[in-house]
Amino acid sequence: MSESADARPLPGPDGLPFVGSFLEFRRDPFAFYDDLREYGGVVGYRMMGYDMCSVLDPDAIEDVLLNEADAFQKPALLGESLDDYMAEGVLLTEGEQWRAQRTMLQPMFYRERVEGYGDLMADYAVEAAAEWASDGEVDVQSATSDLTLRILARTLFDVDLDERAAVVREFADAVSEIGRAGSLESQLPGWVPLPSRRRHRRAFENFDDALRNLVDERRASGGSGDDTPDDLLTLLLDADYPDGSTPSETEIRDQLMTFLFAGHETTALALTWAFVLLERRPETYDRLRQEVDDVLDDDRAAVADLPDLTYTDWVAREVLRLRPPAGALFREPREDVELAGYHVPEGTMVVLPQFAVQTDPRFFEAPEEFRPERWAGDLEDDLPDYAYFPFGGGPRHCIGMRFAALELRLALATIVRNVDVSVRNPDVDPDLGTPFAPAEDVRADVTER
Ligand code: HEM
Repeated sequence: MSESADARPLPGPDGLPFVGSFLEFRRDPFAFYDDLREYGGVVGYRMMGYDMCSVLDPDAIEDVLLNEADAFQKPALLGESLDDYMAEGVLLTEGEQWRAQRTMLQPMFYRERVEGYGDLMADYAVEAAAEWASDGEVDVQSATSDLTLRILARTLFDVDLDERAAVVREFADAVSEIGRAGSLESQLPGWVPLPSRRRHRRAFENFDDALRNLVDERRASGGSGDDTPDDLLTLLLDADYPDGSTPSETEIRDQLMTFLFAGHETTALALTWAFVLLERRPETYDRLRQEVDDVLDDDRAAVADLPDLTYTDWVAREVLRLRPPAGALFREPREDVELAGYHVPEGTMVVLPQFAVQTDPRFFEAPEEFRPERWAGDLEDDLPDYAYFPFGGGPRHCIGMRFAALELRLALATIVRNVDVSVRNPDVDPDLGTPFAPAEDVRADVTER
């Protein structure tokens, strides 16, 4: 990416020496981002010795994610232990290695294949709804997380979670704990012997063993007969790259870990926020119930119902606007670059804050309100590209987007058809981090309808 001689320095708050704007950010991160808007669409500041650059202008976001995507890379963010186990997975690889992996994995996400998982998604949602009603009260985030984990375990490696529950759950819990905003583990260097770090490493090692066993079992069972599951593991075992190589054992492990990591908590968070936001707006919740009762013939939603589940679709879009599960995306320029006329030095942490852009009053009326109806009409066509980007964009957009969109709609419609989920603390705020999770447990009473 070439840089013109007159690229200007980034505008932004000065902040204090070293800590920079960290204290303002810590005090109220949302107000901090509101204030940043005053400096323009691309804003520079410092935090604890790091150069940061927030991109709030959709055109500049498009430059980072699409037009100039090759000039940026993903920074190391996930914390060492996670990076160790996913380094060869498609979320973290770069360049030619990433491109070959993405092409190899793509067939898993073709429309027909994803839609083929629709019945399974709805079946698991019916089961979950019944369990929640029999419990009477649930922690919504962990209940939805259990549901999306079951669906993924089945579609990725044809495993019934009940059989191997402990090892998969411990892995998933370790991943979410590390990813949680402000977790010590993601902030302290790898040699600090935190007890949580030992526990997480043990969970990863156990899961690593379990996955290697699974791969061995699958290879031993012969591979490609009629009864071979149509899952990611089969795809990986049968894959070969254009240079004639095949995915190594480590890559297979890293890809499976990556998909569990990227694909389970995200969708669970979207479902959790859906119930929180629905509770805040009873007329919306009623309209959603009305729609699923009118459209569904039995107790579950099917792919064929989707064209008639218009309101469900708007609810899903609106949840992903107001509470985008990823929260923000991060990039780092490979060398000094020019972005929207500004000079962004190599090594700057470039933040694309979905939560801030998707609530920008220039693009959305009453942006903080949960109003699914806003998606009726032409909003989507009228919005600038990248004013709404819950699944990212450009070549590295979410590979699971179609899968997640389907799962979210089918699970939501099916659950709403079967039970009433009534959140007790609908005022819960998001915790500003990645993922964009509720700041406290979301508890709900669940009754059969
Ligand atoms: C509502 C649910 C989901 C949301 C909001 C979401 C969001 C995202 C976003 C924003 C990115 C881009 C990250 C970046 O550019 O830095 C991403 C990447 C990715 N997502 Fe998702 N995701 C969801 C569900 C899923 C599911 C269900 C899967 C898998 C089954 C998945 C697998 C991935 C993978 C593998 C990547 C990395 C792609 C690459 O770098 O080539 N995601 N996701």
